[in-house]
Amino acid sequence: MSHTFSRRSALRLVGGAVAVAAATTAPAFVPGAHAAPGTAAGPRVEALIRRLTLDEKISLLHGAADPDSLGQAGFVPGVPRLGIPSLRLADGPAGVRVTRHATALPAPVLLASAFDPGLAHRYGRVIGHEGRALGQDILLSPMVNLIRTPYAGRNFETFSEDPLLAADLVAAEIRGIQGEGLIATVKHFALNNQEKDRQSVDVVVDEQTLHEVELRGFEAAVDAGTGAVMGAYNKVDGIYACENRALLTGVLRDQWGFDGWVMTDWFAAHSTVAAITAGLDMEMPDGTYFGAALRSAVRNGTVSEAYVDRAVRRILRVMDRFGLLDGSAPARPARDAKAGAAVALEVAKAGATLLRNEHHALPLTGAAARDIAVVGPTGMLPFVSGGGSAHVVPDHADSPLDAIRARAGRGARVTYSLGEDLFGKAVPASALSPALTTEAQQVPAGQAWSYDGTLTVAEPDEWTLVIHYSGERPKVLLDGQDLFPVAPGYGEYFSGGLVSAAPDGLAVRRATLNLSKGAHTLKITANGGSAGQVFRLRRSTGATRAQDVAEAVRAARAAHSVVLFAYEDATEGLDRTTIALPGHQEHLIEAVSAANPRTTVVLNTSSSTSMPWLRRTAAVLQMYYPGQQGAAATTAVLFGDCDPGGRLTQSFAVDDDHHPVAGDPRRYPGVDGTEEYSEGIHAGYRWYDAEGVRPLFPFGHGLSYTSFAYDDVRVRQDRRGLRVEFTVRNTGRRDGVEVAQVYVGPSPRLELDQAVRVLGGYQRLVLRAGERRRVTVRVSARTLSSWDTKKHGWVLGTGRRTVWVGASSRDLRLRTSAEVRA
Ligand code: BGC
Repeated sequence: MSHTFSRRSALRLVGGAVAVAAATTAPAFVPGAHAAPGTAAGPRVEALIRRLTLDEKISLLHGAADPDSLGQAGFVPGVPRLGIPSLRLADGPAGVRVTRHATALPAPVLLASAFDPGLAHRYGRVIGHEGRALGQDILLSPMVNLIRTPYAGRNFETFSEDPLLAADLVAAEIRGIQGEGLIATVKHFALNNQEKDRQSVDVVVDEQTLHEVELRGFEAAVDAGTGAVMGAYNKVDGIYACENRALLTGVLRDQWGFDGWVMTDWFAAHSTVAAITAGLDMEMPDGTYFGAALRSAVRNGTVSEAYVDRAVRRILRVMDRFGLLDGSAPARPARDAKAGAAVALEVAKAGATLLRNEHHALPLTGAAARDIAVVGPTGMLPFVSGGGSAHVVPDHADSPLDAIRARAGRGARVTYSLGEDLFGKAVPASALSPALTTEAQQVPAGQAWSYDGTLTVAEPDEWTLVIHYSGERPKVLLDGQDLFPVAPGYGEYFSGGLVSAAPDGLAVRRATLNLSKGAHTLKITANGGSAGQVFRLRRSTGATRAQDVAEAVRAARAAHSVVLFAYEDATEGLDRTTIALPGHQEHLIEAVSAANPRTTVVLNTSSSTSMPWLRRTAAVLQMYYPGQQGAAATTAVLFGDCDPGGRLTQSFAVDDDHHPVAGDPRRYPGVDGTEEYSEGIHAGYRWYDAEGVRPLFPFGHGLSYTSFAYDDVRVRQDRRGLRVEFTVRNTGRRDGVEVAQVYVGPSPRLELDQAVRVLGGYQRLVLRAGERRRVTVRVSARTLSSWDTKKHGWVLGTGRRTVWVGASSRDLRLRTSAEVRA
């Protein structure tokens, strides 16, 4: 499928039924030696471009090793001779990722759950301030790719399945980051909606879907003034995103007027001439294509130096805007860890999403607050963040168990049981012949070590063998099978956030296999390396698991209430293969909640989860990856010190067979390297509505500890779109948070595919008990428009349109309609 992208189409609310300025096809840059792209920047930048040698210009267009690295992801050397400073680029998006401590903020999906652009702005400010304090110039954040598939490994790193919400939040966060003098990089442009085959998958999407769904957030980022854009790994309509002219020039420059620069994702460049002429400006993190190869291409006339100048100009222009060229950038501030922690706590509380609360099980009060069984590995170990490039070294992170104990206070009884063992128990000495120290095997520096023996299994059973190690991973062969092979390429980097390290910091890998009764050959080789090595070999089996569950059940029975922490360990680089909780957690929840129906499940998961156990539980609190203040925030919500302020920014499916990408491998994860977004514009809740499928929990859902009534809706049209007014009243006895949502139905006049309803706007409200508030929500002309693929522009959906007001996409309390006129 091919696209013709057009110049920005001005939407008009006057004129004919189709109220869009005629779209014109943009003159595209023609790759080749003699094209002369680019427009002049300010005099300072133009003067620099004149003075830079070709080699110096090229050095600005790709990453290099940082002689004084602070552990950040990327570095671009400057040109000291001309006062052009070097640039340090750090991930992103849940804080500043360097080797030093930083505020580990809640995952962006938790931020998004607050439906509060003001909070996103403050979140951005923390990152901007800390990034500058930690020696960085550019933050590789925010990520705004939509949540399209529940399996995508980075759903925690992004905001929502809804384009409007994502757009509002990305814009606010960018303003926050850049307001502190740090350059933001919106990523990954575009359609990096999954990790599976992300380096190669070819995403085929029709033009209407592309514009209405994925691109809206990127456009908002450009409108908010993002300094940089990161190109995605994947292909779009057959062409790698980092050399895709239609995207990099057609959409970004010609339609949206972007004047910053485009960098690749890490190692996402695939060409020199094709990429630079298509609109790529910087290769990261090295110069495979934009180093010597670019110099030769210019020297031998394959590409005009004007393209190099264009890229340099785009980079310098942003640097100039941030005061990096004339020394006017403010001095680097000191870190303010306290302020960071306060925002981290506020966001985690504001995004905490209460999915279920039977018979007011929460908040915990009276006996329920004084006699608690805490269950689950992440009840003890704080689950701070997901894995991959978003992982931040937190200042500190408390254990939820400690926070619950402290809050329950003296005289309370708070027990703990593991329930699900992530790190294994010692292999019994009797199982190993000859004898082997498996708990703390030391291998001295410079020495090789090996073991050759047998592991004897008493009964056939499912075993999970777990290795904990420092240094190089020991090689363990069981019956000749390499249990913990080292993943090729980037693979090792993406090994999970929480569960890939033991509490004492040793790396952890697992292998699960069915073992028959009898002796199995076991060979282990290890290498002390330069620092010496220590490793442990552990296991869990059906028998140890049964003991863990039995202990949790005993504790649950003995307590008045249970708080069970369940987890899912997502990471960049990997998609999950099911939306069910990993390991044996479903069984644990069933068993514990059968033993004590006053069980609250706290979910530290990246995205949606199926919950076959739901009906047995009293309450379910979705905390995602709550950052370094997660324990305090979770405890505050559990005990009712604050109202759970979050709402779902994605639909939760009942199971693996009922969601927008279920059942069609061409839709996800792709067949023969190609993936079709054949759900079209019906992403997320739009698909559930279009197909009449019941989600487990709908988009926008989330409970408060109080209740709200909606009343008296009125709508009128003004120049900017629709103005929807209604009244919300807190009808309960507690102060509380409501996220009032406005949805809009299709236009009867457009012959384009339209959703059953789309989110038109929302308002987060904090209402005192009994308080009533008149609320105004604006629905923008953009939201009332569709992308017309014939005109390559937006058309306003005129005619009578239904307007709903409610508390989720499926809890619509008020309904009216409005005539939308051109
Ligand atoms: C990720 C980017 C990240 C970059 C640098 C890549 O693997 O996709 O999001 O910014 O690494 O760490």
